[in-house]
Amino acid sequence: MNRLDELRQRHAAAEEGGGPERRERQHKDGKLSARERIELLLDENTFEELDKLVQHRCRDFGMDGQIIPGDGLVTGHGRINGRPAYVFAQDFTVFGGSLSETNARKICKVMDLALKVGAPIIGLNDSGGARIQEGVVSLGGYADIFLRNTLASGVVPQISAIMGPCAGGAVYSPAITDFTFMVADTSYMFVTGPDVIKTVTHEDVTKDELGGAMTHNSISGVGHFIAPDDSDCIRMIRELMSFLPQNNRDDAPRRATEDPIDRADPELDSIVPAESNQPYDMKDVIQRIVDDAWFFEVHEHFAKNIVVGFARLDGRPVGVVANQPAFLAGCLDINSSVKGARFVRFCDAFNIPIVTFEDVPGFLPGTEQEFGGIIRHGAKLLYAYAEATVPKITVITRKAYGGAYCVMGSKHLRTDVNLAWPTAEIAVMGAQGAVNIVYRRELMSGTPELRAQKITEFNERFASPFVAAEHGYIDDVIEPRETRTRLIRSLRMLETKVDTMPRKKHGNIPL
Ligand code: HXC
Repeated sequence: MNRLDELRQRHAAAEEGGGPERRERQHKDGKLSARERIELLLDENTFEELDKLVQHRCRDFGMDGQIIPGDGLVTGHGRINGRPAYVFAQDFTVFGGSLSETNARKICKVMDLALKVGAPIIGLNDSGGARIQEGVVSLGGYADIFLRNTLASGVVPQISAIMGPCAGGAVYSPAITDFTFMVADTSYMFVTGPDVIKTVTHEDVTKDELGGAMTHNSISGVGHFIAPDDSDCIRMIRELMSFLPQNNRDDAPRRATEDPIDRADPELDSIVPAESNQPYDMKDVIQRIVDDAWFFEVHEHFAKNIVVGFARLDGRPVGVVANQPAFLAGCLDINSSVKGARFVRFCDAFNIPIVTFEDVPGFLPGTEQEFGGIIRHGAKLLYAYAEATVPKITVITRKAYGGAYCVMGSKHLRTDVNLAWPTAEIAVMGAQGAVNIVYRRELMSGTPELRAQKITEFNERFASPFVAAEHGYIDDVIEPRETRTRLIRSLRMLETKVDTMPRKKHGNIPL
């Protein structure tokens, strides 16, 4: 066979992967193949494959007779929405997508290239984990990837999609990346599976209950997005990429919009209920303000008392962080603090301005929260806001009570523009609790009318936006209808913002 024929044959074998039977099984399981996934992910005809001829070097367990060029991993680069991106996709049809020494090297090669050119890395995971036949060299390969994930963190965006199994130590690569997508019914992640759990703790749990897409999206928070199938997962990754810069020195891409910057929305004037303890949906507020009502939510099913995600204002991507009064009254607890902190830090690392909508009655009281370390976890959110140097704008729509006032992008944490709606209540605590403490003696012998009068007095004197505005902690009290315009004007004003941190190796965020 001449070399040209040999080359063609090797390329064909790489594309064939584990063969038609295994591919069919993959399709029957509702999954696309590695190559089909990459084709959908990248702009048409932009994929340049690397290392298609790489093969494993394992000679044990009869592996020398089972060589498939590419070794069950497709790597390379292409474009997403016209911009470069680096990808790898594990091919479950070849040794169950298990990670060999050479697989790890292929992944490290694309990661190193992505870092050098400053482009995002997207990993499509579908793997039985460390290649059992290779032993420690496979484990070493994982550690080589973890190192690169860590070095790349905050330099280029890293996205993981779990599109099949992801177990054992293999979960730690996605865990270090910025966003993890999971596919409903076909993906799962766990450190130890149901069988080991049964032996060790005698718990009965299914694979899906333990580490399925919804478990990680709603309970553990390990997953940021859940997609109904592979195609939707890939469509969502492309959408997410449209909000992100290529690297930490780049600005996020602007997109032209027809949505007028001076669009006023009179509905916003009455969106906050007159009764202070009535809920409303903060997502409604966000959608009414941002370009084309388009809010791309992150962590939608986890810690719903805080809402985070991307939107555009004036065509420019912003990260939105908002308390959600429609869930747990929007209070801050352990999970919402961690969720918010991680998102703020991502935006800060990648030059994405942070817009905060605040309506928070405080931190959730209780032994569960205190024993779980709400002090340490709440501090993460505070720390993240304080260290962020990107443009920061906060709008207080209603409650800003107690420590939560300080935490949620207050002026004191060097937020650039702080606005409040007339409905804002900024105080050490709510009126009910406050009068119980301040007027305890008078109220013990007083009438219900006296109590009501004291509450009114308290609300007028303290729980309004005007006291904070008189101190300059709020830059202005605005009409809700003009929020969009005010935000856009502020973002334009802040476009050239430069702020710094003191010189240090790194801070010590309370982990
Ligand atoms: C080599 C593997 C493999 C592996 C699967 N295969 N996992 N080959 N190393 N880790 C092969 C199978 O032999 C089979 O080959 C093919 O992949 C498909 O596997 P099936 O078992 O038929 O598929 P399925 O029924 O869908 O089950 C998938 C699975 C199961 C749940 C992933 O294969 C499994 O439990 N594999 C082992 C998982 C595991 O324990 N890995 C180590 C985790 S610890 P044929 O030729 O029949 O198609 C780890 C440490 C990382 O990864 C450490 C990082 C620090």
